[in-house]
Amino acid sequence: MSETSTIAPTAETRVQVPLAERSYEIRIRGGLLRDVGRRLSDLGFSGKVAVVTDQTIARLYEPIVTKSLKASGFETSTIIVPVGERVKTLRWVSVILDKLARARFERGSVLVALGGGVIGDLAGFAAAVFVRGIPFVQVPTTLVAQVDSSVGGKTGVNHPVGKNLIGSFHQPRLVLIDPETLHTLPRRELIAGLAEVIKYGMIADAELFSYLERQMGALLRMEAGPVTHIITRSCQIKASVVAEDERESDRRRILNYGHTVGHALESLGKYRSLIHGEAVAIGMVQEADLSCHVGICSKEVVARQGELVRQAGLPDALPPMTFSELWGAMQHDKKVAQGRPYCVMPERIGQVVVAPLERSEFKQWFASRASRK
Ligand code: NAD
Ligand code: GLY
Repeated sequence: MSETSTIAPTAETRVQVPLAERSYEIRIRGGLLRDVGRRLSDLGFSGKVAVVTDQTIARLYEPIVTKSLKASGFETSTIIVPVGERVKTLRWVSVILDKLARARFERGSVLVALGGGVIGDLAGFAAAVFVRGIPFVQVPTTLVAQVDSSVGGKTGVNHPVGKNLIGSFHQPRLVLIDPETLHTLPRRELIAGLAEVIKYGMIADAELFSYLERQMGALLRMEAGPVTHIITRSCQIKASVVAEDERESDRRRILNYGHTVGHALESLGKYRSLIHGEAVAIGMVQEADLSCHVGICSKEVVARQGELVRQAGLPDALPPMTFSELWGAMQHDKKVAQGRPYCVMPERIGQVVVAPLERSEFKQWFASRASRK
């Protein structure tokens, strides 16, 4: 594939997520949105389909998807929720379940999650619990969702005490990625998605990291070849990590690089000031700095990652806060065991280690930042 092609690639890319009886495919191609109905038929589905989406996507893309489903003979209903992280609550799960029950959805009925990570997590969780689980298909429309949240089966909602505290593993039956949808994505959201791609480079693929260093300009210009390349590579990495450790007992934890600090920042900001990818970018920069402070990685790793984060236009600085605020918010994370959060720390570009965090060590690092300013 040419690195600079501006013509939308017509070839369809397939990535397999090998999980025995829960295996599924990720398909990536411009224009796939118009083919959702046929793809569901090909999987053997028929009958009722609910498209869960938000108000923005309902206006932009829901008609295309519903038209395609109807053309393939499906009986469709659409469930529209407000926009943003604030709908990732049990109350909105309940609204969706109510609509599914009233529309007499059954075990064989299908739910389509059409939207960003918020919709995927929320709708996926509703699919996981309705009649103890109905099949669902991810049709992600943000870069975060196309490179990360639509793959791997983590579904769930937030609790005021912490992010994603309520949830379930429920793998989709298919992921259909149409990169053309990114053309309507607000620039801030596109840039936030690049944080997750940088994450894959840092945790597993030095070559992807170098590619991002070379192609950041093309990516910010939304050139089709590079955009499709980073989506495909990200999905391949995520699929292989998930295949090795579906339920996050070990290796999958590396996908949480940047999230120990990132999730704390999101919940301290009450999910309003920073969007997910931005919080992850700050988290990665701070966690790499911590890794260097404790002697795990070199200053060069911190500098290269920091440069790429800034090149992408992502934030890197910790907002003003005290040590106790940050450490306190980190205690409410799912990744805490016996009061100690774990942290994913880079050793070098493309390789990380997972280590428990001691309060004293973290406090010392936090204080050292002030003296370096
Ligand atoms: P999002 O779902 O809130 O979408 C961002 C905004 O973009 C919304 O306003 C949405 O309406 C709009 N939008 C979506 N697609 C659009 C398009 N094509 N054109 C125009 N506007 C569009 O945010 P997100 O960044 O996609 O997802 C963040 C969420 O994903 C967080 O809740 C995070 O916890 C979760 N997440 C989950 C996983 C997982 O493995 N399950 C992984 C990463 C993130
Ligand atoms: N986004 C982290 C994971 O899917 O495990």
